[in-house]
Amino acid sequence: MPSQSYSSERLETGSAKSEGMCGGICTVKRLAILAVICLVIFAVAVGVAVGVSNSSGSKSNDDMGKKPWASMRNASLADRVRVAKEILDMYPLVDGHNDLPWQYRRHVNNTVYSGGPDLTTGWPVVHTDIPRLREGHLGAQFWAAFVHCNSSYKDTVRQSLEQVDVIKKYVQRYSDLEWVTTAQGIEDAFNRGKIGSLIGLEGGHSIDSSLGNLRMFYELGVRYMTVTHSCNTPWADNWKMDESDEAPKFNGLTKFGELVIKEMNRVGMMVDLSHVSKDTMVDSLNVTRAPVIYSHSSAFTICNHYRNVQDDVLNMTKANNGLVMVNFYTPYINCFPNNISGNGTIQQVADHIDHIKNLIGIEHVGIGGDYDGVEQLPDGLEDVSKYPDLFAELLNRGYTDEDLMKLAGKNLVRVFRDVEKARDNLRNEHPYEDLIMNVDENYKADEYVPECYTDF
Ligand SMILES: *[C@@H]1O[C@H](CO)[C@@H](O)[C@H](O)[C@H]1NC(C)=O
Ligand SMILES: *[C@@H]1O[C@H](CO)[C@@H](O)[C@H](O)[C@H]1NC(C)=O
Ligand SMILES: *[C@@H]1O[C@H](CO)[C@@H](O)[C@H](O)[C@H]1NC(C)=O
Ligand SMILES: *[C@@H]1O[C@H](CO)[C@@H](O)[C@H](O)[C@H]1NC(C)=O
Ligand SMILES: *[C@@H]1O[C@H](CO)[C@@H](O)[C@H](O)[C@H]1NC(C)=O
Ligand SMILES: *[C@@H]1O[C@H](CO)[C@@H](O)[C@H](O)[C@H]1NC(C)=O
Ligand SMILES: *[C@@H]1O[C@H](CO)[C@@H](O)[C@H](O)[C@H]1NC(C)=O
Repeated sequence: MPSQSYSSERLETGSAKSEGMCGGICTVKRLAILAVICLVIFAVAVGVAVGVSNSSGSKSNDDMGKKPWASMRNASLADRVRVAKEILDMYPLVDGHNDLPWQYRRHVNNTVYSGGPDLTTGWPVVHTDIPRLREGHLGAQFWAAFVHCNSSYKDTVRQSLEQVDVIKKYVQRYSDLEWVTTAQGIEDAFNRGKIGSLIGLEGGHSIDSSLGNLRMFYELGVRYMTVTHSCNTPWADNWKMDESDEAPKFNGLTKFGELVIKEMNRVGMMVDLSHVSKDTMVDSLNVTRAPVIYSHSSAFTICNHYRNVQDDVLNMTKANNGLVMVNFYTPYINCFPNNISGNGTIQQVADHIDHIKNLIGIEHVGIGGDYDGVEQLPDGLEDVSKYPDLFAELLNRGYTDEDLMKLAGKNLVRVFRDVEKARDNLRNEHPYEDLIMNVDENYKADEYVPECYTDF
């Protein structure tokens, strides 16, 4: 159980440290104070060095623990894991995508109180439960309200509402979790020692081509929508259009699809471009009035899978001030041209993070593990208890504490705040009231509106 380690004082210390001590208002007086601080640090360092050489010759654990900002290259794994955990206690790790709600549907018919698991004692058949979330030092989670594409044009809205409901039920039941709907709420929940819990709607099929449904999902607390899952909607192409030999259906977004993006901006819902085709990414980036996220996608150059983001789109995402949250799923991490046999490794996941950081900057990379949405994970990242091991690998690669806090959660909170600001700036715009058949010339009602619909 976290307690005092979550104090706001540590939050402040963590960021102030690496953003420079003067903050652009240096005065002679400040320089003098700095000099004194330097002398003290020097004295302490000498003292420590003497202490170390007088003991076994290895660095003491206490010394390491007090300096999470120091370079941890070549430190022992145990020391790096401990420092990684300290960093994750200073700023919340916000994971972009976890499919525990889907496991509730699959395994226990969405029961939380009458037959479902007790998440406080553990649920070993899945990747996620509270002891493992705590061990993994997770600060906040976007839980995925996902329903299968095969519900499209049938009961998809009903099922999606049930997935929102199951999330609300388990967040209510467990006091380790706290319901959050704002960027500030993520930090507030963390400072209370809680795991902030948010909802992402995984797939545009869930709104059944209705802007009214989109707005109502926002009202229920949904804070991002993945524009498609692994199927086209009547207004957007999914990633498989890039992989298959079929012609893309819409070459990205239709006109109605553009309105969906604009309406998401207007209400303040983050646009999630995981699962969409490259053309849909490009069209969405062109039309959005706020930064976008990829809640669970990795780097195409490192692993040529079309669920991953290609370099030219990464460059566009930098210009958009958006965020790619790296997915751990083996087929997205370990594939051509860097494929090795087996489940893949933590080092490969770190290679994806490195690639995005080196191309577009640490400000645009985050974590979206996809736990409980996938079958196969890299060795060493088997469940939600393992995040600190990935951060330990990055410490070995020279990432600073500030880099790691950005990767963990600062970037996501920044994007979320920008999306809230864009919403506030658009407050004089009316809700979009368009019907898809009135906007898209080639809309084929026969294909999408089955007889069981009483009206459209
Ligand atoms: C880490 O160890 C390697 C191999 O021993 C060495 O080449 C490198 O300089 C060390 N890096 C640091 C930052 O100490
Ligand atoms: C869910 O309920 C249905 C209907 O009673 C039943 O057929 C199914 O086996 C149940 N599934 C689980 C996982 O309990
Ligand atoms: C839809 O997909 C789910 C998940 O794969 C499966 O359990 C279900 O049987 C499918 N339903 C239909 C009607 O195909
Ligand atoms: C971007 O959107 C504008 C206006 O909607 C459109 O005229 C332009 O062709 C689009 N550009 C791309 C690259 O899609
Ligand atoms: C992305 O931007 C970088 C830096 O500006 C540039 O070197 C690189 O060629 C760009 N890559 C693509 C594929 O556009
Ligand atoms: C990597 O992928 C290539 C192309 O799919 C394949 O020929 C090769 O055998 C794979 N290598 C390993 C080590 O799996
Ligand atoms: C791959 O992961 C599974 C599940 O964690 C594990 O049982 C299996 O041994 C792993 N395979 C290899 C080659 O390490």
